[in-house]
Amino acid sequence: MTTSPHPWWYDAVVYQVYVRSFADGMPTPGDGIGDLAGITSRLPYLRALGVDALWITPFYRSPQKDHGYDVADYRDVDPLFGSLADFDGLLATAHDLGLRVIVDLVPNHTSDQHAWFQAALAAAPGSPERARYLFREGRGKDGGEPPNNWQSIFGGPAWTRVPDEGGSVAGGDRRQLAAPPSPETRSPQKAQWYLHLFDSSQPDLDWRNPEVGDMFEDVLRFWLDRGVDGFRVDVAHGLFKEESLRDQVLPEKTGGAEEQAEPKQAESMVERVVRDEPMWEQPEVHEVYRRWREVLDSYPGDRMAVAEAWTQTPEAMAEFIRPDELDQAFNFAWLTTPWSAEEFAEVIAGSIAAVATAEAAPTWVLSNHDVVRHPTRYGGGPAGVARGRAATLAMLALPGSAYLYQGEELGLEQVDVPPEARQDPSWFRTGEPGRDGCRVPLPWSGSAPPYGFGGADGTQPWIPQPDGWSGLTVAAQDADPDSTLAFYRRALATRREVFAGADEATAAEADEDVLVVRRAGVTVVVNTGVEPVALPSGEVLISSGPLPGGVLPPDTAAWVR
Ligand code: NOJ
Repeated sequence: MTTSPHPWWYDAVVYQVYVRSFADGMPTPGDGIGDLAGITSRLPYLRALGVDALWITPFYRSPQKDHGYDVADYRDVDPLFGSLADFDGLLATAHDLGLRVIVDLVPNHTSDQHAWFQAALAAAPGSPERARYLFREGRGKDGGEPPNNWQSIFGGPAWTRVPDEGGSVAGGDRRQLAAPPSPETRSPQKAQWYLHLFDSSQPDLDWRNPEVGDMFEDVLRFWLDRGVDGFRVDVAHGLFKEESLRDQVLPEKTGGAEEQAEPKQAESMVERVVRDEPMWEQPEVHEVYRRWREVLDSYPGDRMAVAEAWTQTPEAMAEFIRPDELDQAFNFAWLTTPWSAEEFAEVIAGSIAAVATAEAAPTWVLSNHDVVRHPTRYGGGPAGVARGRAATLAMLALPGSAYLYQGEELGLEQVDVPPEARQDPSWFRTGEPGRDGCRVPLPWSGSAPPYGFGGADGTQPWIPQPDGWSGLTVAAQDADPDSTLAFYRRALATRREVFAGADEATAAEADEDVLVVRRAGVTVVVNTGVEPVALPSGEVLISSGPLPGGVLPPDTAAWVR
């Protein structure tokens, strides 16, 4: 084993903790919602798994309309999840165990319950309070139409009208806000609209207002002072909008604004079409990250930031990680790539080439809390889980850093959450199932829900778990060498032994249905076809499944040296 010449994050394996769904530790015996005490109690589990760091999704004060991505106070912990003292305890325990901690920063929008938005609602149009957000007059008769044609990522218009010129509206409930009052009760010219690229409870900030940048610098420092190792920057490509707030030009033949506003998650980067998007990827945003880079660098240790930037091209993604900007950007290309050796090879080679232009390291992501879990994307069932393990093994051989999403180490699949239990704001806005199916609380032990997620009283978790998970609990998989959990532990340990500090030069190609990746003297093969294939000669370091007869069966990967 060699020692890496890079900062810790450069080739780290980071485990994403979706705080509500990881482990419920408080109050004892549990309320069915995961929290900081639950995370702290399970840090030894993460240490034993072999990851280097954890990224914790937002745990700040929030009305939880988008499960924490609607922040009401950036400098405090929501009582649902614990207290600042609990966070300090978590951080200290993680550091004692040699684990780094990345927290989530949500700078594109606040909650509608944030003091700034409440003040904006109470103030008049044109006031400094409203100037922190994007309030505009509407179009059409009495300004009754939204200021432009932008659509929310969660469906429907990206604008909501406030009921009157100020002073009388609490604005807490999005359903209340989403329904403008009748024309008789408002002052026509003054009833403005505000922009929200996500839910109406998540008003977008106006980053052209210097107060906004100053506030977030303070927030960065607040958490850096407490000792966090880094930040995951939510919607990093969205902070600035084209100043005119002009209409988005929609391609004629595909028509509807609705179709154009679909999240980019749905699209393959391989077959991309560059769209007109005045709400994303504005050049001014990079100045923000240059400022943050200076803040991060002013602290001891390798403090880092990783951008969540759903850019249209890999080249645009690389701009976020130029040497004076952020350290990493999630590379989402693989999330949208089907089970295909050829497409995997293209994604790997393309991603490595793109970040090379910024002299940065790649990152790799197969699952997160916004997308369908990768075994399900690959067809589900035993074959989907086998393919998921194979893709993970390929990912872990690549240079740069890998992000794992909680539960993938258990082979969890997407759950079909019953409509009455769905909680994703996009479900309420569109009637589409949304993202709840990848957010079902983890099964730790036992043979029936809540599978040890909460306390001993059997409190059921905030999203119901399926009945058939008893074989997937941590306890059930712990001692089984063939389990997905045992496989992840082996894969992470082998990655450390084989690739820590290894040469990064990587070649990826498809040999018919077999993905072949070569790096540091190791050949990684993934059989995406339907027939077994011969293994390369050499020592098999690890495989994602059995290798009967010394050949590589379908849906299986191996590292050979
Ligand atoms: C991206 C986050 O990952 C997602 O969960 C959230 O809904 C949006 N940003 C809005 O903050």
